[in-house]
Amino acid sequence: MASRRLHLNAFENFSPGNIASGMWRHPQDRSSEYKTIRYWTRLARDLEQAGFDAVFMADVLGILDVYRGGSAEALRTASQVPIDDPLTVVSAMAAVTERLGFAVTLSTSYTHPFLLARSLTSLDHLSEGRVGWNIVTSFLDSAARNLGSGEQLPHDRRYDRADEYLSVTHKLWELSWEDDAVRVDKAAGVYTDPAKVHPLGHHGEFFSVPDPFIAEPSPQRSPLLFQAGSSSRGQRFAAAHAEGVFVHGTRPEALVPVVAGVRAEAARLGRARDSLKTFAVATIVTGETDEIARAKYEDLVAYADYDGAMVQFAGPAGFDVANLDPDLPLGDIDSNGAQFTARFFASADPDRVWTLREVAKYMAVGGMGPTIVGSGQTVADELERWAEVADLDGFNLAYAVRPGTYDDIIRYVVPELRRRGVLPDPAEGRRTLRESLFGEGAARLSPDHPHWRIRL
Ligand SMILES: Cc1cc2nc3c(=O)[nH]c(=O)nc-3n(C[C@H](O)[C@H](O)[C@H](O)COP(=O)(O)O)c2cc1C
Repeated sequence: MASRRLHLNAFENFSPGNIASGMWRHPQDRSSEYKTIRYWTRLARDLEQAGFDAVFMADVLGILDVYRGGSAEALRTASQVPIDDPLTVVSAMAAVTERLGFAVTLSTSYTHPFLLARSLTSLDHLSEGRVGWNIVTSFLDSAARNLGSGEQLPHDRRYDRADEYLSVTHKLWELSWEDDAVRVDKAAGVYTDPAKVHPLGHHGEFFSVPDPFIAEPSPQRSPLLFQAGSSSRGQRFAAAHAEGVFVHGTRPEALVPVVAGVRAEAARLGRARDSLKTFAVATIVTGETDEIARAKYEDLVAYADYDGAMVQFAGPAGFDVANLDPDLPLGDIDSNGAQFTARFFASADPDRVWTLREVAKYMAVGGMGPTIVGSGQTVADELERWAEVADLDGFNLAYAVRPGTYDDIIRYVVPELRRRGVLPDPAEGRRTLRESLFGEGAARLSPDHPHWRIRL
């Protein structure tokens, strides 16, 4: 099998709990240190040395409060709460690294493009071009209640707003300031040449931004654009805007139509095949041998939290499962969300009867993504199989325990991937995030990107 090069990101968040609930109770877990700079700088150094491309920061703007009709269970089980602002850890990590990238999840539903563009430009300056934006449209009523107009926009309207949002940010990042606008000419007394800074004149359905951008262009100008969202509307959005697409599935076969769909749509928009990189989420439990890894997995499962899993399951699905019999098959639950989830898990194993209890077991260590258990060799085989079957360019690797999961991946899996030639040796010197994914010299948005068809 010809080796395909893989990209690795760490899938993190600024919280003691990410996609699997209960793991913070493990004796070796140090997730409660999430709010120290020390945690992030150590992680960043280790990941860069190992040759990871980026730290990918997930985020939510509301509490997962559907299960048992309130916030209590999410709070008790640290299910994505408490959670701090992921933008703020980037400077600290950038200060101790040279090549590692930082992709930050920010929602188009509850932020303004002018402010978001300035935050990301600031970090792209400070990191010398290593910032990415994971564009999400959000899905929580709790976020809408506290940040929006009280109610979420309907699903497809959120994407309409996101389309216009990206049109505004493109103008801010790419078109408002010319490359040679900043002169710093002390003799002439000209810092910025006013003739080279252009107003946006944007008057759209959702946003009005008449004036020029307030920040000068950063090394990448536009941050690397990631997207997560896999409905057909989400795929159309990804094809029009994203350079990296983040997908989740229980088996690589289940991802085939999603990845193929977004690639076909991108091709229809005139984009080259390799202008879009695809990443799947996975959690790895590894050790010296398959037996040791399996024992580690069994040990982790002992800390799984049924209520926490149900918080994570009910939040995105949007219906409360608290009063349901844990042994009821999902297919028998009368709700759209349940039917969607039933299909999602049926794709993991059609022969298993998927009940809430089985779902909680599945989600124990790796959430709704796969948990890959084994020696470095076994895990590398599995990652290569996923990439081959689903046509993936890489993985967002979640943690079970911090920092142990990443320590183990770096110790057992990374050397094996490198030995196989699918993970190159870490590059020397500085590099932008876009160059990490698309090669040297590719610091700026590709000329075939659909955004270039937006004109001032
Ligand atoms: C793999 C994956 C990761 C996601 N990560 C986040 C996240 O960190 N924060 C968030 O608010 N939404 C996240 N989303 C939700 C999406 O932005 C989107 O709101 C949701 O998936 C509904 O869109 P869709 O129907 O197109 O999938 C994620 C979605 C997927 C598929």
